[in-house]
Amino acid sequence: MKYSQFTAPDHPSFPENGGVIACVETTQIVGGGLLMTMAAPAGLMHEASAGRYVLARCTEPTPWAQAHDWTLSLRRPLFMAGWRPALSVPDDAERWTLATPALEDAGIRWLAARRPGECVHLSGPLGNGFTLPPRVQRLALIGEPARILALAPLLHAMLDRGGSVLILLKAEGMLDAALRSLLPFAVEVHQEADEACWRARLREAMTWADAAAAALPAHETATLAEAVRAARMRIEKGLVQCLVDARLACGYGACLACLTPLANGRWTRACVHGPVFDLASLSSG
Ligand code: FES
Repeated sequence: MKYSQFTAPDHPSFPENGGVIACVETTQIVGGGLLMTMAAPAGLMHEASAGRYVLARCTEPTPWAQAHDWTLSLRRPLFMAGWRPALSVPDDAERWTLATPALEDAGIRWLAARRPGECVHLSGPLGNGFTLPPRVQRLALIGEPARILALAPLLHAMLDRGGSVLILLKAEGMLDAALRSLLPFAVEVHQEADEACWRARLREAMTWADAAAAALPAHETATLAEAVRAARMRIEKGLVQCLVDARLACGYGACLACLTPLANGRWTRACVHGPVFDLASLSSG
């Protein structure tokens, strides 16, 4: 699809209002999360940067609806799970793959109901993503099935450099087939639901890995920190990065919905100073 096919004249005002109009190509429920592929204007992203996000306005991208429909007033965050550059032909679009958990949310349900060809108004890309230092050769990705695809760009970057990846999921039942089909066979996947087994697996993973990235609910941060201390004696800076479970609403540091507690007793705004933080700054060593 060419980007010019879904901009003017249907949505003449929104790019001037800030943000972009992106066009839905596919929506899929994977592991309890929403995965969307969208065509977006070329030149905004230069790589698939895990942890960066866009904020989606959950109403029709028409001038009337954007001005008057505030049924779902807060924007919803979608995290970068993949990226493909525009082809070198006129007006081709970039492809953004975006992931988010929280399907019980009305805004996410609205997004999941978009059909191919429908458009969504997005602000972004925003925030600071994960970094993958050159020294890292063994990477552990830790999360829930609905959140793990937000870490997918790290997985592919690691395999491209010839490193090893272990995925550790906290979930009950069988691993979702749609999720497994999206994970390369070269990746070892472990799943645990029992709390004692989960803690043991975390310790094993943190003994094996030379870096880890986590996307977990907020209440799991303390458990992860405890496992790192048990495996490594202390929480070294640069060892574990976390995509925090914060409410990202405005994306510009204005509304304070995303306040996140730090290990030093202070609070920070995840939308502008994260949403990825070093575990050493979230939990005391
Ligand atoms: S989302 Fe509004 S201040 Fe962070």
